[in-house]
Amino acid sequence: MLEPYAPPPLQQVDRFSGWSVHALYQRRTPIRLTADEYSKLSATRAENWDQERADWHANLPFVRTTQAQAILDAMGALVSSNRQAVDEAKPALLIDGRAGFGKSAVMKEGLYEFHRLHEATRIPEPRSRARAIDVVHISMRSATNERGLAERLRDFLELPPVGKTEREITKRVLDTIFECGVKIIAIDELHFLGQSLAAGRRMSNYIKDLLNGTPCTFIFGGNDVLASPVFSADRGRPDAAGEQFLSLIEPHAMQPFTIATRSDEWVMTLMALEENIRLTRSQRGDLFWTCADVMWAMTGGRWRALSRLLNRVCVKAIETGQERITPGLFSGLPIDLLAGSDASKYLATLGDGSWTSLPKDI
Ligand SMILES: Nc1ncnc2c1ncn2[C@@H]1O[C@H](COP(=O)(O)OP(=O)(O)OP(=O)(O)O)[C@@H](O)[C@H]1O
Ligand SMILES: [Mg+2]
Repeated sequence: MLEPYAPPPLQQVDRFSGWSVHALYQRRTPIRLTADEYSKLSATRAENWDQERADWHANLPFVRTTQAQAILDAMGALVSSNRQAVDEAKPALLIDGRAGFGKSAVMKEGLYEFHRLHEATRIPEPRSRARAIDVVHISMRSATNERGLAERLRDFLELPPVGKTEREITKRVLDTIFECGVKIIAIDELHFLGQSLAAGRRMSNYIKDLLNGTPCTFIFGGNDVLASPVFSADRGRPDAAGEQFLSLIEPHAMQPFTIATRSDEWVMTLMALEENIRLTRSQRGDLFWTCADVMWAMTGGRWRALSRLLNRVCVKAIETGQERITPGLFSGLPIDLLAGSDASKYLATLGDGSWTSLPKDI
C-alpha cells in the first residue's frame, strides 16, 4: 500500500542549510491512475492523489533540452578545469537571455547536481571544525550595491550579521569561503548590477575582485547582461575593470524554442512533459501532437509561459472532469504580456496551414 503523499517541507533557500535540504530532496513521482482506478479510490485517497498531482504539475521535472544539456556540460567542464592557483582569476560562466527563457532553471539544475554528487562522495575531514559548504547560490535581486551583495553572501553562509562596513563583511565572507571549501558561487539576476552606470561599474569591479580573491568557480545568470551600459557605455567599450571582468566570462546565450528550422526540439520537449502529466483519461500524443500548435501559439516557445500554461490546463482538465488535454481546453486561459504579441499573431492563423510547430521529418 502506497504511503499517503505529504508535501515537501518549505525551506528558506537563501541560507545554505535550507538550500541544501531542498537540493537533496528526492521527490516521489506520482503513480498513474486510469479513470476506473481513480473512481474506486476512497474520497480521502482521491483527495490525496489530487493534491500530489497538483504539486507535481506546478513543478514538473526539469527537461534536458539540447540547449540546457549544452549549458550543463559547460558548467561541469568549467568546474573540473578551474584548478588554477589561488591567485589566478578563474574563468566564469554567464547564462544570458531574456525573461523566462529558463536561465535560472538550468543554473539550479547544475548546482543541485553538483551538490548531490559532492554530498555522496565527500570524505569528511576529521580535524576540520568548519562545516562543509560546496555551493553558494544567491540572487542579486535586492542587492543593488556592494554591501548588499556582501550581506547576501554572508547570510547564505549563515554567518552572524557582524561587520559594519562592506569591507568587514567581505573579509568575513572570504575567510568563510576558504574555511568551508566553497567550490561554486552562483549569482543570479546579475542585471541588477546597478541602477546607475557608476554604481554598475563599482559593482562589476567588486565582483571581479571576488573572482580574483577566491578559489571558486563563478556562475552568473541574468537578463541581457552583456547589453548593459556597464559593458558598453563608453562608445561600446567597458571601462578597464569591466574589460577585465568580460575577459573572464564564457557567455551562453539562452534562446526560446524556435519553429523556423522545424527541428523536433519543441515536440520532443512536449513529449517529455506529457510523460509527467497525471490525468486519468490522457492518450499518447494529446500534448506533443494534438496540442503542439496551440501551445506554441500561446507561449511563443518561452519556458515560463509554457510551464504556467501547462499547469493551468491540467488544473482545468481536473476541475472540469475532462481529465484529458485537448486544444479546446486552452481557450480562455491567460497569456502573459511577454507572449501576448506573438500570441495574437499565431492564434489568428492557428490551423490555417501558414505555420506549424510540428517537425519536418515525421
Ligand atoms: N528545462 C526546463 N525544464 C522544465 N521546466 C523548465 C525548464 N526551463 C525552465 N522551466 C520552467 O520555466 C520557468 C521559467 O524559467 P526560469 O525561471 O529559469 O527563467 P529565467 O530565464 O531565469 O527568467 P527570469 O529572467 O525572469 O529570471 C521555471 O519556473 C520552470 O518551471
Ligand atoms: Mg531567473
